[in-house]
Amino acid sequence: MLDRYVLRRLFQRDKLQRVFVERLTEPLHLNVLAAFVWLFGSFRMKVAFDLVARQQYAFSILHAAERAKEFGKKGVTIVEFGVASGAGLLNMCKIAENASKSTGVEFRVFGFDTGLVYRRRTITAITPRRPWTGELLAIHEFNREQPARKIAPFTMLRSRRIFKSARWLDQVFLAHIHDHELRS
Ligand SMILES: C[S@@+](CC[C@H](N)C(=O)[O-])C[C@H]1O[C@@H](n2cnc3c(N)ncnc32)[C@H](O)[C@@H]1O
Repeated sequence: MLDRYVLRRLFQRDKLQRVFVERLTEPLHLNVLAAFVWLFGSFRMKVAFDLVARQQYAFSILHAAERAKEFGKKGVTIVEFGVASGAGLLNMCKIAENASKSTGVEFRVFGFDTGLVYRRRTITAITPRRPWTGELLAIHEFNREQPARKIAPFTMLRSRRIFKSARWLDQVFLAHIHDHELRS
């Protein structure tokens, strides 16, 4: 149930700190309920209760599959920009497999890094951190140059979630393709 990767990450100092700050400050009854979901819950329930490692990937991948299904699409392509040693990409593959079982939607997974290109069966949740540099600057430039395509924070994500203190809730952005046939 708890694989070695999850255990290793859980006992890293910053991760433990996050568990204490983000999770133990949530209402007790929700944490008790989460224990039951952890033991007996479905993949969907575990995603809803933030029990899947890299919650931002889990939520985003499942969300993409559910939207695809809603629009009658059979497959979704997910991409990680900046794969490094591949830990995140492998995590995405595993989540994609579970999301696929849960929704019936197929995944193609791609990962890119400087100078290297991996192709595997697997989405990326964009996690912007600093205003006016890095990812946020890139998003700002993209939005300025694209009149019909905009990247923006996931509106009202917090109000849809059970656990509201999680850091990742502020780091998920959506791409709005206003010139797509489904939106016109
Ligand atoms: C923090 S690491 C990524 C960790 C990985 N996503 C994970 O979850 O395990 C950032 C990676 O982004 C890559 N990177 C930075 N700028 C890039 C660019 N312009 N194109 C592709 N990869 C880039 C770096 O080489 C580095 O491997």
